[in-house]
Amino acid sequence: MDIFLDTANLEEIEQAVSWGVLDGVTTNPTLLPKEMERTGKGPREILEEICRIVDGPVSAEVVSTDAEGMFREGLELAEIHENIVVKIPMTPEGMRATKRLRQEGIAVNVTLIFSPSQALLAAKAGAAFVSPFVGRIDDVSGDGMELVSQIVQIFDNYGVEAEVLAASLRHPRHVVEAALVGADIATMPFSVLQKLFHHPLTDVGLEKFLADWEKAGRPEIRTPPSPSESR
Ligand code: E4P
Repeated sequence: MDIFLDTANLEEIEQAVSWGVLDGVTTNPTLLPKEMERTGKGPREILEEICRIVDGPVSAEVVSTDAEGMFREGLELAEIHENIVVKIPMTPEGMRATKRLRQEGIAVNVTLIFSPSQALLAAKAGAAFVSPFVGRIDDVSGDGMELVSQIVQIFDNYGVEAEVLAASLRHPRHVVEAALVGADIATMPFSVLQKLFHHPLTDVGLEKFLADWEKAGRPEIRTPPSPSESR
């Protein structure tokens, strides 16, 4: 399963890339303004920088609600970098725009998916990615992961090529469950990615190894000198 960050924060993206664990990024109209405020940069500049930092798909969302507007915005966003994936909301107008963008060879991530039927329609319209929102379904007492599981099964049944991008993940358990049900990608906030590293037994184990090495007088691990060097 690929790991994406759901953020526009350039420092967070840089850090995740340095760990060697990041496959892509998703942004949205809530996340980009936060980074604009933090850095004073414009949305285009931020998206360009994200594409420079991460070598993988970077979702950028349209804000028009009519098909023509979404299509035009999509063309502009796609011009920023070849890795930009245009994020389009799951509406009939959105599917019209998806179909047209696909015809132009532009990858689309259909967002705000809350039912298997929406995912099926998005894939039919030509989406490269579909994004079920797990946490927001859990928030209203539903079962977000069950939705991801159903979409994975339906896509498997028919060999649908669109990738299932589990979104709105709120904690490490969500990430593990997304992997267990076969999501292709999990996108998560930086705080969730950080939590994935931690296990108390790792901390305890490391502390003990270091203490034991200290007790042994910190022996040197060095290649012994060759006979010619020691003469
Ligand atoms: C996905 O692409 C969305 O940007 C995101 O996962 C939404 O998450 P939220 O429900 O935590 O806002």
